[in-house]
Amino acid sequence: MIPQNRKSAACKQFESDSPLAGGLPAYAYTSTDYWQQEQRTLFSQSWVFVGFAHEMSQAGDAMPVEIAGKPVFLIRDSNGSISAYHNVCRHRCLKLIDKKHNVGPRIRCPYHSWVYGLNGALKSTPFFGGPDQHTPEGFNPENHSLVAIHCEVWFDWIYISLSENPGPFDEYIEPLKSRIADVDFKQVRAVATIEMDEIKCNWKLLMENFIEPYHVQFVHSSTTDQPLENHYTVIDRHCLGSAVDIEKTNPDKKTNTLAVSSLYLTLFPNFVFGRYFPDQLGVHLNIPVSVNQTRQKRVIYLTDNSHKDDSEIRALKTLWYDVHKEDHEICERLQLGRASDVAEPGGLLSPHWEDSVRRFQELAFERALG
Ligand SMILES: [Fe+2]
Repeated sequence: MIPQNRKSAACKQFESDSPLAGGLPAYAYTSTDYWQQEQRTLFSQSWVFVGFAHEMSQAGDAMPVEIAGKPVFLIRDSNGSISAYHNVCRHRCLKLIDKKHNVGPRIRCPYHSWVYGLNGALKSTPFFGGPDQHTPEGFNPENHSLVAIHCEVWFDWIYISLSENPGPFDEYIEPLKSRIADVDFKQVRAVATIEMDEIKCNWKLLMENFIEPYHVQFVHSSTTDQPLENHYTVIDRHCLGSAVDIEKTNPDKKTNTLAVSSLYLTLFPNFVFGRYFPDQLGVHLNIPVSVNQTRQKRVIYLTDNSHKDDSEIRALKTLWYDVHKEDHEICERLQLGRASDVAEPGGLLSPHWEDSVRRFQELAFERALG
């Protein structure tokens, strides 16, 4: 639970008339109690981004994911649809899918060989009723199928919700979808994936860092060429981020730097989307692991009919790896700073460049309260 005195302190900051009121208190990034509260509320109630459909392209491809501390798995069925289930055998509650792999035409529990179809239906329960009886009297397999959870796929991106009533998915993605309506997704393809090491910081710090453009000129001075004055923030319901409009490329720009008009947008809580004109998209998957650990991967997409050869793709991967590492170093130091008593009120946020971070923090706090 969030301590009552801390709850009121944080609310007071958000209710302050001062545009320079502090940010989300440090304990929201360091307290295990707060982390557990987020799992029970925010991550149990929201749509949450969990994976990439192109990584499970064949019927029977299955992938375990953990959401709000709960074991879940994703699976592609024989019709080509991706679904999500609680990752638990209905017999003795063993975790069914323990690693990403293809299960073939059915899911078999390794303990007592109970078998489920790719649609979650319980198919067989060998010897459950005795040496000659698979289905004891009074046992109806139809009542013991795998338990499905809400799962939606938008283009390559898989979202799930543990909530019984997560709200319409179309409404969830609309603020972002409407901003990229001109993208021809039939032409978009994934060309590279960057798997990052675990980052030693709370998931919210990575999100906040992506949302604000203020740091780009300082942290990414060697990897980007996007002047601060060309940036602006985006606050549209739960779609938060920034954008930069570059009219002319700097003729003195360094090689292999990002120097194009871009959109940096998120869907709360953890979907991260970048558009880099004219022909590139990037999506990060941020997976909260513990209060101070987050796993991250990035998929790079090309749009339209643009072609890049292997060396150009390698250069893109190198650029993005370097950009991410620059951000990770900063986010890990943001985490370390939050052990100080000075950080308890949450620092300060720029009323101009970090208003989108403030909205993110407000949403994070409201949703954590449940
Ligand atoms: Fe950054």
